[in-house]
Amino acid sequence: MSDTLSIRDNRTGKEYEIDIKDDNIKALDLRQIKVNDDDFGMMSYDPGYMNTASCTSHITDLHGSKGILRYRGYPIEQLAEKSTFLDVVYLLFNGELPDTQQSEDWAMRIKHHTMLHEKTKRLLKGFNYDAHPMGVFISTVAALSTFYPDAKDVDDPETRMLQACRLVGKTPTIASYAYRNSRGLPFIYPDNELSYTGNFLNMMYRMVEPRYQAHPVLERALDVLFILHADHEQNCSTSAMRNITSSKADPFVAVAGASAALYGPSHGGANEAVLNQLREIGSLENVPAYIKRVKAGEFRLMGFGHRVYKNYDPRARIVKETAEAVFEVTGRNPLIDVAMELERIALEDEFFVSKKLYPNVDFYSGLIYEAMGFPMEAFTVLFAIPRTAGWLAQWMESMADPEFRITRPRQNYQGLGERHVPDDYRS
Ligand code: ACO
Repeated sequence: MSDTLSIRDNRTGKEYEIDIKDDNIKALDLRQIKVNDDDFGMMSYDPGYMNTASCTSHITDLHGSKGILRYRGYPIEQLAEKSTFLDVVYLLFNGELPDTQQSEDWAMRIKHHTMLHEKTKRLLKGFNYDAHPMGVFISTVAALSTFYPDAKDVDDPETRMLQACRLVGKTPTIASYAYRNSRGLPFIYPDNELSYTGNFLNMMYRMVEPRYQAHPVLERALDVLFILHADHEQNCSTSAMRNITSSKADPFVAVAGASAALYGPSHGGANEAVLNQLREIGSLENVPAYIKRVKAGEFRLMGFGHRVYKNYDPRARIVKETAEAVFEVTGRNPLIDVAMELERIALEDEFFVSKKLYPNVDFYSGLIYEAMGFPMEAFTVLFAIPRTAGWLAQWMESMADPEFRITRPRQNYQGLGERHVPDDYRS
């Protein structure tokens, strides 16, 4: 048995033998398939990249049909149970989980980068009070590019790691400053005595108390949610990150661009959209009528369905468990019953079953964030903070990839052929 694919072009009767590597064929190998010498050659056509591997990666392994998600080989369930978000960042960046000493050193290294340049405050104050936090987050992350011109040296691995640590350290500070600004509250400086999520909650919620200590269950719940959101292989925003950095743009503007891709309601914006829908439904008796409208094609059920999971999203199960733990502390979010009823009906309904639509990671996360006091508009920022780690891991991997090159897809042009501007045009 040879690792090749035989193709017969019935237009010409010619046969081609194409190599198969790792179950893939190279799209460029199709180019030799031509009708005549003038022919450009065959391309593969794949709008929405339904079946195109855009890179080779060693970071996140995802088997949608089996509901499997692993970072560097470790199942997400085990990481959520036994590690911390910062350990997971170390794992994503370096390939291995840190030992105790490495974990402490790593946490210290990230914490050294939590402060923002003081001028960032002036930038933040320029936004209206009702500015959407994602718009503020995206703009502020992009602005950091102007403070760190050294970040442009993207070919140097040490510089890349430095910028990656800076970004992981600073995104919670940006998010909390955006929130404080929207409420007219003073900015709270980072506290390096606290954990990554403990410090984030401190910068969000501290008022006049000399020290803010988040409830340990909430601190841990946020850490688990951050672990679950840290990476998800070549999704829309990660592909945006790889696309932008393929031109060797610096990681600050690139993370801003990836965050913009995340912002859309079909992607990371879904957690905000879910809560909007749950509020609109309001109570259990309205669920069947709402499902009816979804089935009639009026709108989609947000937080349901996924491009690659055609089975239960493994992250959704952990989020649901985390929600229960959080509600023990904060009190039960009444919308959880609406969410669970939606899920129960949808999982039994032929419409959802036949389309393999299951709850995704965003279905329950918004309920937790709301119970923890985060405003709904900030939910996608809570996704962007941990996903920044994934984007950066993917960026560093791509920059070290011997196959690295600027991305430049082709198109299937079906527009008009050559025509001429009339001599008397606008004369
Ligand atoms: N509610 C109702 N019907 C849906 C839903 C939904 N949430 N999602 C998909 N469908 C239907 C589509 O109408 C389509 O039906 P058809 O075959 O009769 O035309 C079929 O299921 C397949 O849908 P596609 O849009 O082709 O699936 P795709 O893989 O392109 O889209 C997506 C995936 C964008 C996530 C989609 O399921 C969706 O819009 N979900 C709601 C938004 C959401 O929760 N997004 C978050 C995703 S997770 C994340 O990004 C972190």
